[in-house]
Amino acid sequence: MNSLNSAEIKKYVAKIPLPIYVFDKIDSTNNFAKTLSDDFALVVADSQTGGRGRLGREFFSPRGTGVYMSCKVNIPSLYENVPFITTLAAVAVHKAIAKLYNIDCSIKWVNDIYIGNKKVSGILCEACDERCAVIGIGINFSEAPLPENLKSIATHLPQNPSVTRAMLIGEVTNNLCTLISHLPDTSFMDYYKSHSCVIGKNVLCTRGNESFSGLCTGISPQGALIVKTECGTLTLSSGEITLRFTD
Ligand code: BTN
Repeated sequence: MNSLNSAEIKKYVAKIPLPIYVFDKIDSTNNFAKTLSDDFALVVADSQTGGRGRLGREFFSPRGTGVYMSCKVNIPSLYENVPFITTLAAVAVHKAIAKLYNIDCSIKWVNDIYIGNKKVSGILCEACDERCAVIGIGINFSEAPLPENLKSIATHLPQNPSVTRAMLIGEVTNNLCTLISHLPDTSFMDYYKSHSCVIGKNVLCTRGNESFSGLCTGISPQGALIVKTECGTLTLSSGEITLRFTD
C-alpha cells in the first residue's frame, strides 16, 4: 500500500504552495475543508467514517484503497462560475486518470467518472462562503471488499505499480488549479462533452417525485443536460437530479 503523507503529495503538486492536511481517518475531508480559513488548501484522508456523496448519500471510504481528497479553492466570481465547478472538477479527474493510466474512461453527467459501465470516482462540490468552494473527490484507487449494494455499480482503477495515490492526488490538484486559474475561460466544456457517456443515450432523469425519460441530445454551454422527451426538449441543470441509462 502506498503511504499518504504531505511531503509525498507535495512532490507532485507543482502549481501553488497550498497547505496540505493529511489524516489517517476523518469523518469527511469536505467537512474539515469547510472549517479552514485558508483560501486554498488540500485535505486528504486514508479513510473516512462519514464520507458524503451527492443527494445526501454515503460515500464508501475504506482505508488504504481510495483517494479521498477535498480542495478548498477561492473561485474568482464564484457566483457566476458555480455551474462550472462540478464540470471543471470532472474534467480535472478524468484528465488525471487518462494521463496516468492511459485508459478509456468517461464522464457520466454530471460529475461521475466511469470505467465501462461502472463508477470509479464521484465528486461532491459544496459552497464554503461567498468566495470559496470545496471540491471533494473520491476515487476507488484499488480493489476493496465492496458492500453488496455497490458490487454491480462500482469499480476501481486498474493496478499500476508505477502510479501512487500521491501522484494521482497531485495530478488532480494541478489540473483543478489550472482550470480554475483560466476561468472565465470555459473551453474545458469541449473536453467534458467529448468524454461524456450520456450524449446520444436514452436516459431517465429523476428529480424528487418527478421523472423525465428521453434521449440526451447534448450538454448546454453551462453544463446542463439537454433531453428530448415526448413533451419537448428539457434543459436540466444538475441540482437534485439523478440520471440512469435506459438503453
Ligand atoms: C458522489 O459520488 O455522489 C460524490 C462522492 C464524493 C466523495 C468525496 S470523498 C472526499 C470528499 N469527502 C466527502 O465526504 N465526500 C467527498
